[in-house]
Amino acid sequence: MNKAIIGGTGVYGMDGEATTRMVSTRYGDVEVDVVRITGEDIVFLARHGKEHSAPPHLVNYRANMMALKELGIQYVYATAAVGSCNEQFEPGDIVVLKNFIDFTRQRPITFYEGKEGVIHADMSDPYCSDMRRWLLDAARRRALPVRGEAVYVCTEGPRFETAFEIKMFQTLRGDVVGMTNIPEVVLAKELGMCYAAVGIITNWCTGMETEPVTLSEIQGALALNKERVTETFLDVFGNLPDETRCSCRDALIRL
Ligand code: HPA
Repeated sequence: MNKAIIGGTGVYGMDGEATTRMVSTRYGDVEVDVVRITGEDIVFLARHGKEHSAPPHLVNYRANMMALKELGIQYVYATAAVGSCNEQFEPGDIVVLKNFIDFTRQRPITFYEGKEGVIHADMSDPYCSDMRRWLLDAARRRALPVRGEAVYVCTEGPRFETAFEIKMFQTLRGDVVGMTNIPEVVLAKELGMCYAAVGIITNWCTGMETEPVTLSEIQGALALNKERVTETFLDVFGNLPDETRCSCRDALIRL
């Protein structure tokens, strides 16, 4: 068992024979589903909890990622609901995240608090280059309409952004905005895991259209896309190439 899917907002489970498991970590307990799919166990973790009880700034990201590590996971695909601040990516579109800009402020961001010495994670390829490539290939095979690769801006939340914050993110060349991918992608790298994520675009960011974001807009885009995205992840997992070229297992710099 070495593959996992993290479901973001709107993605709370997977079809298949599932067994619930509690994993204890030094950061807290995490509930996961182990789902039997074509003869293989795949771990499913609902980022916010199955009842969507943890808001983005209070998700226990370290417990979530450590639980996956303790289960022996090496490959992680995640979904993230995002707003678009790039006119080329519309609500309902799917994008593969290729890089990020971090505007979070006060969440725990690392496993390395100094006890093990000073450790830095390399971020030249924050999202695993192999997993991104495999995902884009599988999306093409399955005719999953991936609009492109996107730069993800992570805000602290839980409030949405102001129109002027969005203008700033556009100037910085951000494409989509969400509240959860930091520190998740960073913690995966600290643990030597291969991690990639798709953004499911639920709305235009604040100020990009006259109407404010509505709940039904967000729910519609998620309902439309969640199954085809998880099926594409499973397609990759069912056909993982032997050869890996990424450097995710070796991304820590110790001083
Ligand atoms: N901003 C931040 N997070 C989000 C948005 C948004 O517009 N849409 C979905 N998650």
